[in-house]
Amino acid sequence: MPTREFDQLLSASIRHGGLSQAQIADILDFKLFGNAKGFVLLEDTEIGEIPPTPASRTDLNKVDDRSERLLLQATALLGEPIGYVQESGGCIVNNFFPQQTQSRAATSDSFDTELDLHTENAFHAIQPDYLLLLCLRQDPAAEAVTYIASAERILERLSYEDQVFFLNEPYNFLSDYGHSEKNQRIDINKHQTVLYGDPDAPFLRFDPQFMVAYSDRAQRALDRLRAVAWEVVEPVRLTRGDLLVIDNRRTAHARSPFTARFDGSDRWMQRTFASCNLRFYTEKLGKQSRIFELVTEL
Ligand SMILES: [Fe+2]
Repeated sequence: MPTREFDQLLSASIRHGGLSQAQIADILDFKLFGNAKGFVLLEDTEIGEIPPTPASRTDLNKVDDRSERLLLQATALLGEPIGYVQESGGCIVNNFFPQQTQSRAATSDSFDTELDLHTENAFHAIQPDYLLLLCLRQDPAAEAVTYIASAERILERLSYEDQVFFLNEPYNFLSDYGHSEKNQRIDINKHQTVLYGDPDAPFLRFDPQFMVAYSDRAQRALDRLRAVAWEVVEPVRLTRGDLLVIDNRRTAHARSPFTARFDGSDRWMQRTFASCNLRFYTEKLGKQSRIFELVTEL
């Protein structure tokens, strides 16, 4: 979508997004104060007419834009809506539904593969602060579960020594961004700790499939952390109209496998990212944009 067209949609969204005053308050409360779960779920929002789930992105033909407006209104309350060249060609609103060609792939377009716990774009210097998932249609067998593990819940189960270890031990975070596509495993020399920020209330970045440990001890610690994260996950079964807002700096999330039918009734999700630091990135990059290439350092 061209920039001006997107800006018009964004402008319409903040004025006519459809969120109630109570829902707006829930989102702002979450942004300002957070919570122990690291996410907030708004149920049964007004998303309008949803056509049959398309078979591919080229078949996407959604006339009613109420879901996009609602999602963008929520996103704008949290920060600036941003996108990545490697995610859905740089679209700000990403559409995910099962695609036959993505069977067994570890991507958001897959369905028959579990996506393991991960923080979104943990390797990227411009990490999304929030991740918003709006369910347009649940999978027909209601099998799909989204899991969220929060830093707060994880830290409750880590020893003091483990916490100090994860605040200090660098891991090599691999990038899954190639030049224009995802699903690579590229060493971008990104050495960083799992916990960062305020040691008393640290942020978390975690993506074990894309992290390389420097020692056996560090690998064992990572395996332990993954097990602890799975112990504390909160499962969420999203149904039509559910909007899940995830704090991407204090959680890792995952998704179970589910069945696809390819008959228009499949699961359909829309996703956006919000950044709270766009002006800082503009200053560092010397360029103003909502859509980013791979940025390894600022
Ligand atoms: Fe994800």
